[in-house]
Parts: sequence; C-alpha cells; structure tokens
Amino acid sequence: MSLFVVDSEKCKRDGICVAECPLQLIELTDRKSVPIPINGADEMCINCGHCVAVCPHGAMSLATMKSEECTPVQKDLLPGPEQIEHLMRSRRSIRTYEDRSVEREVIAKLIDVARYAPTAINTQLVRWLVINNKDEIRRLAGIIIDWIRHLLREQNPFAGRYRLDRVVAAWESGDDRVCRSAPALIVTHAPKDYPTAATDCAIALTYFELAASVFGLGACWAGFVYLVANQLVANQWPPLQQALGLPEGDTCLAMMVGYPKYRYHRIPQRNGAMVEWR
Ligand SMILES: Cc1cc2nc3c(=O)[nH]c(=O)nc-3n(C[C@H](O)[C@H](O)[C@H](O)COP(=O)(O)O)c2cc1C
Repeated sequence: MSLFVVDSEKCKRDGICVAECPLQLIELTDRKSVPIPINGADEMCINCGHCVAVCPHGAMSLATMKSEECTPVQKDLLPGPEQIEHLMRSRRSIRTYEDRSVEREVIAKLIDVARYAPTAINTQLVRWLVINNKDEIRRLAGIIIDWIRHLLREQNPFAGRYRLDRVVAAWESGDDRVCRSAPALIVTHAPKDYPTAATDCAIALTYFELAASVFGLGACWAGFVYLVANQLVANQWPPLQQALGLPEGDTCLAMMVGYPKYRYHRIPQRNGAMVEWR
C-alpha cells in the first residue's frame, strides 16, 4: 500500500504538504500531477501526519491516517494569548490535597490530552503508569523514606545538603513529604537507550500538569520518585524498582495528582529570565 493517497479532485497542487513535510519526503514534479512520495519515503516517514493536517483541502491521507478521521482545528475553541499567559503563570505545584480520590475517567482524559505532547522524531514511546491508590502511594513513599534513612546512615552529602533528616522526621510524625499523601501518582516512562526518553517523559507530564490545572486538579512533580527510580543520587534501591515494576532499562518521571485543598490567590514572583540575545 502506498505511503499516502492524494485525492486528485481536491488537491490544488499548492505544494503546502511538500513544504511542510519535516523530512522532505513529498515531491510535486509539476503543477498538473498530484504530490508523490520520494523514493524510500515509506522507510523514512515518521507518521507525524503534518501532510494530512496542513492540507487546506482535505486532499491528503496517509495509509495510517485518513484526512476525514483527523479532528478539524476549531479556531473559536482556542484560548487567546492573555488566557494562555494567565494559565501558565498561575499554574502552581499543589502539595496539599482533599481527602478524595481522582476519578479514573478524569485521569484517562488528561492522559488522552497529554499524549499530544511532542516527542522527538514523533517516536511516541512514552508509556504511562497510573497508581490511583493512596495506600500503594504511601507504600512507595515508605520505601523512599527507607532509602533516605540509608543515605543518612551513609552520611551521603546529598542527604545532608537537602536536610533529608527533616523529611524522615516529618514521616515519623505522620506527614508524608515524599508523595504528599497524594491520592494519585502518574508515572511516564520510556526505554533509557532511546536518547530523548527523559525529555519526552518530562514534556508529557508537563502537558499533563497544565491540563490538570484546568480540570480542577492540582499536581506536583514527585522528585523523590524520580531521583530514586533513576538512581540519580545513589546506588540502585531495588524495593522501589520492584514496587514500580517498570520494564527493565526504562527511565521514568512521576507526578502527584489530587484535588487541591487550597486555592492560590496570587501569582508568586519569579526571577527575570536569564536570556542572551544574539
Ligand atoms: C523535576 C522537578 C522535581 C520536583 N520535585 C518536587 C518534590 O519532590 N516535591 C515537591 O514538593 N516539589 C517538587 N517540585 C516542585 C518545585 O519545587 C516547584 O516547581 C517550584 O518550587 C516552583 O513552584 P511552582 O511549580 O508552583 O511554580 C519539583 C519540580 C520539578 C521541576
């Protein structure tokens, strides 16, 4: 089957698909014929669907992606610059949650939005693990507390620098500073041998976090899970790896999610951007 099919009645030979294909896989030999794939395009196509999405006439369909099955962009549904600026500036890391679980459908909806996050070469290798169970998250936090105790025993400089003794003391008094007693933990993971695995996982969760804030949820990066699961500070901590049960060799990032207990009324100030213009 051909890589793509062009409807010759609808195609206006405007060359937009040729100009927009990120890998230059489409050619328009003359203005009378429709665009065709270059030699070897099948193997090189990253299935990003830009040719289908950019055609104003709905003339282009990939073998894997029919034009009529792609959702039309509705300009009237798009927020303006002011709304986006306010949304992005007012998003906060939320660490105190109402004592109620997050509906599975809401998480599924957010993941369904976040899967549109960019991935390098459109590989879409990011996988999601949803731990929508407060007891299980507490168990993970407990495993991380054991890891911190281990670091403290070993006088690991990281534990000293970030006063992780306070995290343990809080845990012992019933306050979970690791996973913040969150009702849900969302993990993105991808094979470590894929060069942009961590970046793609982070972008996906960034999309998730922004969308969550609009859906009335609050989220916060679970830095301890990230540090321990990826062995960024010390040696392997097998109980966490086992508890997460991710495929061997996967890198991961994690985010706590829940309904915020408190509302933020102001946008805290941030440093000016450190920019060098050239
Ligand atoms: C990679 C990463 C890891 C983080 N880990 C934690 C964490 O383990 N616990 C926590 O409470 N906040 C964590 N945060 C949240 C930051 O502390 C927070 O983004 C920062 O203080 C700014 O606040 P804001 O997100 O509300 O603007 C993390 C943020 C990032 C980007």
